[in-house]
Amino acid sequence: MTLNIAVLVSGRGSNLQSIIDNIENGYIPDAAIKVVVSDKGDAYALERANDQGIDAVFIDPSAFGGKKGYEEEVLRTLEKYDTQLVLLAGYMRIIGKDVIEAYKNRMMNIHPALLPSFMGLHAQKQAFDYGVKVAGCTVHFVDEGMDTGPIILQRCVPVLEGDTEDTLADRILEQEHKIYPEAVKLFAEDRLKVDGRIVSIL
Ligand code: GRF
Repeated sequence: MTLNIAVLVSGRGSNLQSIIDNIENGYIPDAAIKVVVSDKGDAYALERANDQGIDAVFIDPSAFGGKKGYEEEVLRTLEKYDTQLVLLAGYMRIIGKDVIEAYKNRMMNIHPALLPSFMGLHAQKQAFDYGVKVAGCTVHFVDEGMDTGPIILQRCVPVLEGDTEDTLADRILEQEHKIYPEAVKLFAEDRLKVDGRIVSIL
């Protein structure tokens, strides 16, 4: 059976692209991205979806009378596409309670830091400014906190002499494009078991 995936985006969509590519090349088995949803009409990720013949939907947050109405529309869209797994890929909003409950342990996010360090915005800059010697990225299930859900995979990269915030962010992004497809593959193969905060890989 094919795993129906929805991807929520707000921007350039390079992580979306890495999932698309890894479904196409067979690394992620039996899965299809059914819809890409953006809260920004001009997100480049929507173009990437269109280029692949994937339904690309812009949901305008200001058009539904507030956060609750907007979230209801998101949920309706996810249900319309019979979504079984939701991927946040550069989606710049906090997900509301109803969507989280509907997709508990079936919604993932990628964060460009080694959680629980450097939650929130500009994680690479936070890490760089802090002076860490090791940085990285995390794929986790989404819970009600910001970047607090059970951790599925992490990958670290060194911070090198002469790095800038941008060179570090690029090094992290390269690994994001590997571990996100890896986490989705594990989910598609039913190899992730969640017990409280602990995610075991079977
Ligand atoms: C990535 O760094 C991701 O970790 C963070 O937002 C960025 C999105 O980039 N959540 P892209 O839109 O996938 O290129």
